[in-house]
Amino acid sequence: MTQRHCAGGNVADDRTPIPELIARKRDGGELTDAELRGLLTRYLADEMDDAQMAALLMAGVIRGFTHDEAVTLADAFVRSGDRVDLAGLRGPTVDKHSTGGVGDTTTFVVAPLLAAAGCQVAKLSGRGLGHTGGTIDKLEAIPGLRTDLTIAQVRAQVERIGLAVAAATADLVPADKRLYALRDVTATVPSPALIASSVMSKKIAGGASTIMLDVKCGDGSFSPTVDDAAALAELCVGIGVAHGRRTAALVTDMSQPLGDAIGNSLEVIAAIEVLQGGGSSRLRDVSLALAAGTLELLGRGEQEALEEVTTLVADGSALARLGALIEAQGGDAAVLDDPRRTLAVAPVVRDWAPPGGTVARIACRRLGEIAGAMGAGRERAADVIDPAVGLEVHVRVGDQVDASGRSAGLPAVRIHAPDEAAAERAAEALSEAIVTGDASTAAVPLIHRRIGFGRA
Ligand code: URA
Repeated sequence: MTQRHCAGGNVADDRTPIPELIARKRDGGELTDAELRGLLTRYLADEMDDAQMAALLMAGVIRGFTHDEAVTLADAFVRSGDRVDLAGLRGPTVDKHSTGGVGDTTTFVVAPLLAAAGCQVAKLSGRGLGHTGGTIDKLEAIPGLRTDLTIAQVRAQVERIGLAVAAATADLVPADKRLYALRDVTATVPSPALIASSVMSKKIAGGASTIMLDVKCGDGSFSPTVDDAAALAELCVGIGVAHGRRTAALVTDMSQPLGDAIGNSLEVIAAIEVLQGGGSSRLRDVSLALAAGTLELLGRGEQEALEEVTTLVADGSALARLGALIEAQGGDAAVLDDPRRTLAVAPVVRDWAPPGGTVARIACRRLGEIAGAMGAGRERAADVIDPAVGLEVHVRVGDQVDASGRSAGLPAVRIHAPDEAAAERAAEALSEAIVTGDASTAAVPLIHRRIGFGRA
């Protein structure tokens, strides 16, 4: 454990007047390492108020923070709380992180796959907020499964079965928690340096020596374009490397949902189907690429790594590791045999389709919001999740929908709703979110860029 409420040891005592530092950032200047740490230390000690911090953040969002400022922020965040000590585990310690999106349930595929490949996976995750889902909410869709493990329990479970997925404790990077809450209500989330330092501080405090990132781009993510996402990925990789971690990133598509399922039980089912050798090809391809990319960072060749993870799915080893995780955390392992019977199901299930034609546009973020409005997500932290509800979306841009509302034999969308009225509202909203046309539309690539591979 490290010292609390201090953002950087003996350099955190800079006392430059706060308005002077805010003004420098407002005018496009750079803050030194000592100045930034000093500001954060004063903020955590309540010597800098929320209005001043919000002004500084907004100045940084508009004028930009430099790479060095992002590295300092990440380090100062890490020093604000506990760090997980994974030293001494048998095998390489690895972690993965997605910047978040819709139908993005790769953790349930990647973590067991990496454990099956001999890695030690201690994953501390968050809950969903807004239109994106959260790993912890999805795990809790499995009856009985506990996610409130202590750091000592996480470590002991990893020693026993190679993996644990638990809710991040309050003492892990408390500075980020406080700053993120302020960013959320002051429209200062979308800054590459703030996002990168927030994400990477949690990964660094999580203790793994190898970190694989999935940086999303498109409507359902924080980065509208591939170039924005690549810049964010470079920044994250740079912070990881500056902290001595092997780090790489894939930039992947979030202009439409990743897997076919949006909603907590539905996404657990989607991941199990991939580990059983079927399921959504998009979810499978990104998950396997992330797992293989992690093994590449550990020294495997690109092709060799992909073959290894493909085999670990085909021979059932990865699925068995997911079963071990579920049992170790008190969940009902019968979910692997018959997930659709074991998990909660919605009372109303109704199919919906756009007019026949080629799918021209999918509003990805909107689909997350539609599932969220039925109870799959939360607007406020205190809202209660309904694990059963959500959407199964079987179409993507460029797919054909026939006159009966099906695409490749499946309903375009299946709505899982808490009641008829909610299903009706979802259907109305879908008619603006998924649009068909006559012209053929090119399919969207899934993996746009690989960043950080082949670097020391
Ligand atoms: N996720 C995080 O953890 N932090 C951010 O700033 C944005 C997304």
